[in-house]
Order: sequence, then C-alpha cells, then structure tokens
Amino acid sequence: MTAESQQVDGAGEPVPVLTVDGPSGSGKGTISRAVAARLGWHFLDSGALYRAVGVAAGWEDADLGDTEGLVALTHRTQVQFVDDPGGEPHVLINGVEATSELRTETAGAAASAIAAIPEVRAALVERQRAFRQSPGLVADGRDMGTVIFPDAGVKVFLTASAEERAQRRHKQLKDKGLDVTLDGLLREIVARDARDAQRPVAPLKPADDAVTVDSTGVPITTVVEQVLALVPESFRKSHTPD
Ligand code: DC
Repeated sequence: MTAESQQVDGAGEPVPVLTVDGPSGSGKGTISRAVAARLGWHFLDSGALYRAVGVAAGWEDADLGDTEGLVALTHRTQVQFVDDPGGEPHVLINGVEATSELRTETAGAAASAIAAIPEVRAALVERQRAFRQSPGLVADGRDMGTVIFPDAGVKVFLTASAEERAQRRHKQLKDKGLDVTLDGLLREIVARDARDAQRPVAPLKPADDAVTVDSTGVPITTVVEQVLALVPESFRKSHTPD
C-alpha cells in the first residue's frame, strides 16, 4: 500500500474504492458504470486510458517498438472524460473528440500492444490513482485490485463463460452489420484469455482478496445488485457525496 493509492477525504479517511477487474465481454464496463451511478461515486475506465494512448500513437504514427518514445507520448497525452447525461461519457484526447475512435478494433489492438509494455503501464499508475476522489471510486480494468488500488475495500473479479462472452460479442458485431462467426469469436476469446492470464506484466488474475462474480446467464440488473451487496453500508454512509 502506498500513500498515493490512499487518497483521503476531508475527514482524513481513505477514500473508498471498489475495483472491478475481469476479461472483456464479462459486462465489466456496463456493470461498474451502473454501480458507480447508484453509489454516486466517481468512475475510472482504465481501458479507455490505454486505448487513448493507442489512438494518440496512431495519430503520431509512433513506433510501437520505441519504449522511450511511447512513455513520453503517454505522459503528454491528455485524456478528458466529459459526462453526457444521455449516455456514455465523451472522451477527448488532447482536446479532440475521440469517443468513437476509441472503441474501434484498431484502437483496441493498439491498446493491447501498448498495455504489454511495463514502462507504459508504470507511466499510467499515478494518473489512475488520481481518480480516487471523495466520495468514492469504482475502478474498472484488469489490474485495479492487484496493482493500482491494492488497498481497495471491495474487489470484484467479474467473469462469464467464454461461450457467453463470444455470444455477447457476436451480437454486438452483428448489430453493427459486421459479418463474423460465433466459432471464430470463441476461438479468439479463448486464445486471448490464455495470453492475458500468462503475460508477465500485470497478468489478468483475481486479487487474492477479490470476490469472483460470474455473470453467465445472469441479467445485468441482477449482477449490479450482487456487486452493490458487497459494498458495506459503512462505506456508503461515511462518504456521502460532496
Ligand atoms: O477494457 P478495454 O478493452 O477497453 O481495454 C483495452 C486494452 O487495455 C486491453 O487490451 C486490455 C488493456 N488494459 C490493461 O492492460 N489494463 C487495464 N487496467 C485496462 C485495460
């Protein structure tokens, strides 16, 4: 536990953090955003930071093999989340609207390459911890409970079967008019799970003190309630919104 990961509120109490880690397709983003809204807490979409650096690298045609250059790029890339009452927050990269670009497969692939570089991960640590502001933070990612907020009071590892995640992704891509096969997606997901769990830097694994929540076959609203039930009343009461 470090001083930086333990920001305090006006009363000198550590600001409470709920971490939600897990593989893509587990419903993490939707569920953790809904939980943050219900608690009235701040929200960190850490994947968006990796994606933003990936997008900025594309804009600058950066060499993904040049670690020093990428670290400098990471430090100078400004990322702003602007709330949109009608939906997901907008993301501005260096002041430029990039919400849609951030969600493309290209941005995801660049983020994945960049996220495997320890120096880039290190360059993003303090920026992620700065989201820990009163009255509380819900942090969504892969290493929120293990690396970024090891002292978080509640840690969730959200998962779903590879088959269900493939089905969810299949539906999303079909809705976008893309032609993909369920079998192909399932194979990709199984391969990515193995890669993510085995990578030497911040591998995707539950923190020792995380509660695993399996969303296979469970409606989102039920999962939101299951996660909220893990947050002690004392956490909510002692940290009322400013
Ligand atoms: O959750 P996402 O798909 O937006 O994440 C984009 C990429 O960033 C993905 O390859 C995983 C990586 N990532 C990470 O390594 N650590 C995090 N805390 C969040 C995302």
